[in-house]
Amino acid sequence: MIILAIESSCDETATALYDGDLASGSGRILGECIASQIETHARFGGVVPEVASREHLAALPPMVDEIMQEAGLGWADIDAIAVTAGPGLMGALLVGVSYARAAGAVHNIPVIPVHHMEGHLLAPGLSGELPAFPFITLLVSGGHTLLVRVDGIGAYSLIGQTLDDAAGECFDKSARLLGLPYPGGPEVARLALKGDAKRFKLPRPMLNKDNLDFSFSGLKTAVMYAVRKAGGSDALDDTARCDMAAAIEASICEVLVKKAVRACRQQNAPRLVIAGGVAANSSLRKLLATYADEVTVFLPEPKHCTDNAAMIAYAAFARLRTGSEASTDWDARPRWPL
Ligand code: KG4
Ligand code: ZN
Repeated sequence: MIILAIESSCDETATALYDGDLASGSGRILGECIASQIETHARFGGVVPEVASREHLAALPPMVDEIMQEAGLGWADIDAIAVTAGPGLMGALLVGVSYARAAGAVHNIPVIPVHHMEGHLLAPGLSGELPAFPFITLLVSGGHTLLVRVDGIGAYSLIGQTLDDAAGECFDKSARLLGLPYPGGPEVARLALKGDAKRFKLPRPMLNKDNLDFSFSGLKTAVMYAVRKAGGSDALDDTARCDMAAAIEASICEVLVKKAVRACRQQNAPRLVIAGGVAANSSLRKLLATYADEVTVFLPEPKHCTDNAAMIAYAAFARLRTGSEASTDWDARPRWPL
């Protein structure tokens, strides 16, 4: 079956075409396209919801036309439309949902609402098979930091989460304190490559608490004090900025990796999926590799770690395989627990 997928929950407009075989579960991406709004929002230091909605509205229709044309497909070839229905920015979600609903009504195609985090969670399935159940997923994005036990498609238990800031948010806010542009995660990662992580001492929040929760707001405050002590972000030379970036990255990655491994141990599920934008971080991937004898790690390709529509197509496909019916009784949900 061929699925057209649409993602517009935050600051990327994305479309994808996925061809999946319901019987075997195998499938392939026929095309995908992402338009990032990062440059527009960077001027404001973060995502401006109203601007995001308008950009989605302008970008989405031509992107759908383009992806269908490139794949040589028409509406008659599409068996289902998958769309991110939440969580995310209400106005942004509504653009994708309204488009999907209108196209579905005109062309008589069922529309499947997809939970954005379920898309991230199942993204490793795009490049191979999902791990055997049960497995643990660490979802680390700009808005979420969750540890989820996955017992099957749709059988998700939240076993840990952040009590305040998300890991990606901590990267972004710390980057801003260093005078780096939005989004800060990739910038911090780039500078950290040249930095000495031991020069500045930063805390490892909640690492010694015997639970699976996280807290990153204290780390951001520690970065603020460290920058202030060094004379402010303008006074930092290149070496100090790189050293600080390396310290920030090391702290966030150590906490994430150790807690994720702890979750695998506690749940007796030695298979770990890391997903969400922060999963693109190469230090995180390197640190995880040191636990290879204890935990098998499944990582989506970096382009499928950050927001994309292929993961939305795959999540809809996985749901359809379980026999779940497309319902019409749903709406965009800015807040939607997994
Ligand atoms: O999943 P995502 O694309 O969007 C959300 O749903 O939030 O995640 C975006 C987050 C941002 O906070 C960004 O700074 C972070 O992922 N990020 C990274 C890297 N690439 C993206 N953080 C650390 N290292 C990276 N390489
Ligand atoms: Zn996301």
